[in-house]
Amino acid sequence: MKSRKPIVIANWKLNGGFDLLCSSVASFVKKSFLAEVYICPPYLYIRDLLHFLQYSVVNIGSQNVSKYQSGAYTGETSAQMLAEAGCKLCLIGHSERRSMFRENNASCQIKLKRAFENNLMPVLCIGENLEEKNAGITKDILSRQINESFEALDIADNSFCIAYEPVWAIGTGQAATPETAQEVHAYIREQLVSLFGQDKAQQIRILYGGSVTKLNTTELLTQPDIDGLLVGGASLDAEHFMSICQQV
Ligand code: G3P
Repeated sequence: MKSRKPIVIANWKLNGGFDLLCSSVASFVKKSFLAEVYICPPYLYIRDLLHFLQYSVVNIGSQNVSKYQSGAYTGETSAQMLAEAGCKLCLIGHSERRSMFRENNASCQIKLKRAFENNLMPVLCIGENLEEKNAGITKDILSRQINESFEALDIADNSFCIAYEPVWAIGTGQAATPETAQEVHAYIREQLVSLFGQDKAQQIRILYGGSVTKLNTTELLTQPDIDGLLVGGASLDAEHFMSICQQV
């Protein structure tokens, strides 16, 4: 039995409008879960969703956070603003941010700092792409992503999660097998032990993301080092996402 509380996060990305919001609200109000459940909608819907889900156990997170605190940074949203709006968590360094918006381990480090300063729980997303997987350098990539993101950061008592999202599994329908995901998660935990020590590393939740559906949820979550799921496509159907949350 794992001591870490399971966590399931919906990442809506740039999908869904008010309809998705309404269908999710209808499904999630008055439900309880064994897992912590979060929805990360587009920024514009954070306040609406919070309002509609105020009597539910579902929390709201953001898909990104600015590395800047305030000033002339058109289009940015700060960690302080997200926290004030009611977000509890923020994703950092999602592979789409890294590949399309030039984010890297250095910018992730600043974003982690901003999240900690504002009591947002960061979920650092890491993962190798297909080329890197085929070249057999998955562990090197992950180790760099973890070490360069946390180096020089004082994590003190802050809580955070890591999400392992192999890029080749995102939106492809080709999820990592539970065995492969477990092997990688165990490696990630080893890295965390080296960085933060055994006690802290055992408390950090490591999520898997990449083509998660209600069909592979249970098998993934029964692996010893898979503590939660980060769900993209399947979270856009409220009933489907509900079914994932209820399998925990
Ligand atoms: O952040 C979740 C995501 O990148 C995985 O997407 O559609 O493969 O579940 P998907």
